[in-house]
Amino acid sequence: SYWERRVRSSARARAHAGHVVLVTGASGFVGTHVCLHLKRRGDGVVGLDNFNDYYDVELKRARQTLLGRAGVFVVEGDINDRELMEKLFDMVAFTHVMHLAAQAGVRYAMKNPASYVHSNIAGFVNLFEVCKSANPQPAVVWASSSSVYGLNSKVPFSEKDRTDQPASLYAATKKAGEEIAHTYNHIYGLSITGLRFFTVYGPWGRPDMAYYFFTQHILQRKQIEIFEGPQHSSVSRDFTYIDDVVEGCLAALDTAKKSTGSGGTKKGSAQFRVYNLGNTSPVPVTKLVSILEKLLKVKAKKKLLPMPRNGDVKFTHANISLAQRELGYKPTTDLETGLKKFVKWYLDYHSDLRKYSS
Ligand code: NAD
Ligand code: UGA
Repeated sequence: SYWERRVRSSARARAHAGHVVLVTGASGFVGTHVCLHLKRRGDGVVGLDNFNDYYDVELKRARQTLLGRAGVFVVEGDINDRELMEKLFDMVAFTHVMHLAAQAGVRYAMKNPASYVHSNIAGFVNLFEVCKSANPQPAVVWASSSSVYGLNSKVPFSEKDRTDQPASLYAATKKAGEEIAHTYNHIYGLSITGLRFFTVYGPWGRPDMAYYFFTQHILQRKQIEIFEGPQHSSVSRDFTYIDDVVEGCLAALDTAKKSTGSGGTKKGSAQFRVYNLGNTSPVPVTKLVSILEKLLKVKAKKKLLPMPRNGDVKFTHANISLAQRELGYKPTTDLETGLKKFVKWYLDYHSDLRKYSS
């Protein structure tokens, strides 16, 4: 069928030794960038996304258009759909899975907990069930989160630090993902790498994230709310630029050892790894706002509020020496440089949405 032809052609690697990668959450922020980079260097790439309406679906469609123009086909479907997933693995011998599909967002977990269970727990397990039985077994690289460090007050965060105090249901589902992944590695010999991203930002970003809707609100002269820590101290994030994170994702794919098992049996031991992908340079949210004011040349209407009691952590800060050593990961973009690129994209994208209608 037409659909199958599109999948097969999208999966074709240009170079003989190229990877063939299934990217879940392909029409998401990080997924779009990962797909473009993989395709550009000659890997075969098939995307999967359910286009849910957690945020502006038009933006997800625009990213899909961008991917289509680059030769990446995005299958519309849910990671919970076992039949669809098995069909994809029957059609294509994926060497790798880049699993980015999830319900993201920290504070939304209090509004819609079920969506986190659906995608980050049930869908997560379904994906691993399909991967463990696939022949050949793909190596899996997936997005965990800095939120697993939770209420840990020791900074910077190292991979060995405790992760038993999640501050939100979102964080708890990412932490659960790490535990579930470990069992699939242990029982079925799946090669699995978890990447703990730290507040990623950039062009084609997520409208639910602070840097994006602050930009929107500042331009529309609307008030923004800035959460403060206890005793009015500032809250900070280790904001990490998208291109740096993508470099880390590709390095994780390239260094993932091929799984040793196939068809659901364990034959030897495969890799199980977890890395921080942060920027190692936390910035207060108040500073994020002042950089945006400078770039947009508009003064923000600010309202200071206490931190939401359940959800946010006061600060995040990555120790990246493990990723540096084993993946050659080295972030190079500071917040102001990265925000400049985001603002340029934002103004361009919102000036003419028709550019990306399919
Ligand atoms: P995103 O929401 O833009 O991308 C996720 C994509 O997955 C969306 O397009 C969504 O439609 C899709 N999706 C969700 N549930 C699905 C399902 N059940 N089946 C199929 N598709 C589904 O988010 P993002 O910022 O690109 O994040 C990518 C990954 O990185 C997520 O796992 C997220 O939790 C994680 N992460 C992101 C950040 C960040 O700051 N952006 C930080 C830490 C971790
Ligand atoms: C982000 C992503 O949304 C999560 O999906 C991801 O897992 C997480 O990073 C991570 O690093 O693991 P968060 O850091 O909360 O979560 O990102 P934003 O929602 O953009 O918030 C950034 C900062 O702005 C936070 O300190 C938050 O407290 C603050 N904020 C947010 C405000 O001050 N006001 C707001 O209205 C919203």
